[in-house]
Amino acid sequence: MSTAPAMARRSMLERVSSRARLIRRAEGRDAGAIGAIYDEAIATGVATFAAGPHEAAERREWLAARGVRAPVWVMEQEGTVQAWSALAPFSHRPWYDGVAEYTVYVAAGTRGAGLGGEMLAQLVREAPALGYWKLVGMILQGNDAGLALALGAGFREVGTHRAHGRVDGGWRDVTVVERHLDAP
Ligand SMILES: CC(C)(COP(=O)(O)OP(=O)(O)OC[C@H]1O[C@@H](n2cnc3c(N)ncnc32)[C@H](O)[C@@H]1OP(=O)(O)O)[C@@H](O)C(=O)NCCC(=O)NCCS
Repeated sequence: MSTAPAMARRSMLERVSSRARLIRRAEGRDAGAIGAIYDEAIATGVATFAAGPHEAAERREWLAARGVRAPVWVMEQEGTVQAWSALAPFSHRPWYDGVAEYTVYVAAGTRGAGLGGEMLAQLVREAPALGYWKLVGMILQGNDAGLALALGAGFREVGTHRAHGRVDGGWRDVTVVERHLDAP
């Protein structure tokens, strides 16, 4: 059981950490940081099927073209954008209207420090107000951190598509994860 001083210290640290990390909606001025973080993830070879590079101007257009149900957030730590996250409709079919695909990207130098977990928890909190009842993630084969992030945030593994896409000409499996936000 935690002692009172230990609990007070944890609560103080949580307050300091939440002050230091701010999650807010992405704006045009974040385009460069978002592109740079995206390109770092692409370099891992296991984060996404997308190819870089993503210059600021290209990301600015991408941000401007996103609808209200496809928002992008950034996390600032001490005034620097260190992570971004996004939701997008899973399908154009109306009966899947309540399902969104999520993405979370953390700058290489700050991975493993809890930023990804905070970003995904925030997406889970925001999604119902956007009319989503479920979040789905598509995790490429070999992305151990991406899978751990999802499972740690209460997602369940649905299954694995075999040879679902290609990176640099090589087939990649994709594991689907989901978390229902409404069902018991
Ligand atoms: C996946 C990613 C977003 C995780 O963010 P992060 O800030 O590094 O993750 P956190 O520190 O919040 O850790 C989240 C969980 O993943 C685990 N984890 C983190 N890095 C890991 C690694 N390399 N291998 C295994 N598990 C890892 C943590 O232990 C934690 O687990 P817990 O919830 O059970 O404690 C980050 O690694 C990243 O940006 N990768 C490149 C982009 C990407 O692959 N995005 C996912 C596609 S949507």
